[in-house]
Amino acid sequence: MEQLKQRILQEGSVVNDQVLKVDALLNHQVDPQLIMEMGREFARRFREERITKVLTVESSGISIAFAAAFELGVPLVFARRRKSVTTDNDAYCERVPSFTKGIVTDIMVSKRFLSSEDRVLFIDDIIANGDAARGLIRIVETAGAELAGMGVVLEKTFQAGGRTIREQGIRVETLVKISSLAGNRIVFEE
Ligand code: G4P
Ligand code: NA
Ligand code: NA
Repeated sequence: MEQLKQRILQEGSVVNDQVLKVDALLNHQVDPQLIMEMGREFARRFREERITKVLTVESSGISIAFAAAFELGVPLVFARRRKSVTTDNDAYCERVPSFTKGIVTDIMVSKRFLSSEDRVLFIDDIIANGDAARGLIRIVETAGAELAGMGVVLEKTFQAGGRTIREQGIRVETLVKISSLAGNRIVFEE
């Protein structure tokens, strides 16, 4: 998405070699027009997959996942985050480390909203090491649901998340790939 690249160049800023600040676009403020555009693009790529549910993790994935779910005409479920471990018989829970915050959190999805009947499209804003993503994928597996694929807005290809998830045999569709943030410069991968 050329438009998205331009917006990242205009409104994003490099924090360090690993982290791109995009709070004007994805993590704090969102542009509804641009978000709906992304939702349409993911829906277009996964239209033939008979998706029954779009899944994401709160909070930054929600707007994009909503747009995709709206376009596909299916519900959106967002995994909730919890600060402490709680065992819950009515929910699927996974522990995941957070790349930016340097802490561990638990993500959970109620068993009422995900089942073996579902064919899931997983949407996320940014993929780094893929820890959070792998946690959510384990939840889909535990639920016995089918994962049709993953749609990611921004993939940092110098980190291993996208690659390792593809190596698991999962289809990962990315709108924008960034191959380097070194020297305060955003480099897109073609
Ligand atoms: P991963 O699954 O790819 O490993 O993601 P990871 O756990 O590394 O990411 C944890 C959080 O860090 C995610 O947000 C993710 O979007 C964010 N993140 C990773 N790399 C970057 C980056 O370069 N820039 C920014 N701005 N965020 C990054 P989260 O914990 O889910 O928080 P939220 O934004 O959804 O509330
Ligand atoms: Na985020
Ligand atoms: Na996210």
